[in-house]
Amino acid sequence: MSATPVLETVTIDLGERSYPILIGASLLDQLSTWANLPKAAVALIVTNDTVGPLYVARLHAALQHHYAVVQVVTLPDGEAHKDWATLNLIFDHLLGNGADRKTVLFALGGGVVGDMTGFAAACYMRGVPFVQVPTTLLAQVDSSVGGKTAINHPIGKNMIGAFYQPHRVVCDLDTLQTLPKREVSAGLAEIIKYGPIADMAFLDWIDTNLDALMALDPHALAYAVKRSCEIKAYVVGQDERESGLRAILNFGHTFGHAIEAGLGFGVWLHGEAVGCGMVMAATLSERLGLVDTAFVARLRRIIERAGLPTVAPRLGAEAFLHHMRVDKKAESGEIRFVLIDQPGSAVVRGAPDELVAQVVDACSAA
Ligand code: NAD
Ligand code: GLY
Repeated sequence: MSATPVLETVTIDLGERSYPILIGASLLDQLSTWANLPKAAVALIVTNDTVGPLYVARLHAALQHHYAVVQVVTLPDGEAHKDWATLNLIFDHLLGNGADRKTVLFALGGGVVGDMTGFAAACYMRGVPFVQVPTTLLAQVDSSVGGKTAINHPIGKNMIGAFYQPHRVVCDLDTLQTLPKREVSAGLAEIIKYGPIADMAFLDWIDTNLDALMALDPHALAYAVKRSCEIKAYVVGQDERESGLRAILNFGHTFGHAIEAGLGFGVWLHGEAVGCGMVMAATLSERLGLVDTAFVARLRRIIERAGLPTVAPRLGAEAFLHHMRVDKKAESGEIRFVLIDQPGSAVVRGAPDELVAQVVDACSAA
């Protein structure tokens, strides 16, 4: 199925570091997509062994019009490889091929490739330009936008990284047609997230259009990607380095990261952990008297219909608390949660351990 070639542009407004997010069909092959790229002799496409065979030839062909040399480095696929050893493959390639400080990196893949390429770009010779070409729904609606880059440490998720903004983001909606269903659901988690924290009308739209999204309807996808990027662009434009507001984008992530770290990275997909984490964070909000049970039940139903888990793995409350204490939002060991204080609005605050433990027990498998 090929999408109608709509082209939307959402701008991330960060002064001289502002950049566009291009959203549309067949963008990989359109000349206009690649106008005004940073000038350099060499471009390096970073991809993985799943996405490379699908899309690298098209990106390579497009970039040959702009760079004398276009190289490719292919990383092993998977969250379990979002680590130092894999990051070093990028540096090995750059240094081994004499890449200079003008070399432009292109991240072709999902959030794992995007986060690692961005971190490599931030570090290589103290910073080279990079372009995000996200090919998963999750990466198009969230991870490619906003300049968070990182790798995992066995002790915690995304613990080593940098804020480093891309030069542009190119969301070719056609690439989503090859995504496995489980990955589509994972992306839906980050789309659903924007409703409770910022825009209940968008949650209503998702509720109505969920079947179309799951069937990869091009028009539904185009709107969901655009609206998600608009909300994220607004938040990042207000608080690029997460000194306050930006933390709301982590709704569901505190519980979710504990699930990912507790089970071992890659056992549950990031989006699956976030889906379940949102149910847990909404339940905690309800136990603190911030929202009613009807709100939690509705959110749980939407997450379930999106094909995401809503029951946590039985790690135990102690394990959850342990992993959540190394969350980046934690302050002096106090865990800080993104909670819903009213539908469409989020607040970041602590909660008593006993209450959190009750929520973990209530939301975990028997
Ligand atoms: P991913 O990068 O692992 O991609 C999911 C799977 O889909 C992989 O197997 C990948 O090879 C495959 N794939 C990618 N594009 C494909 C395509 N078009 N067709 C077929 N298969 C394709 O996972 P993800 O869900 O994209 O990203 C999750 C990562 O993003 C996590 O590491 C998470 O921490 C990070 N993240 C970062 C931010 C941020 O702000 N930087 C935000 C959210 C998530
Ligand atoms: N995904 C959370 C953020 O970008 O801040």
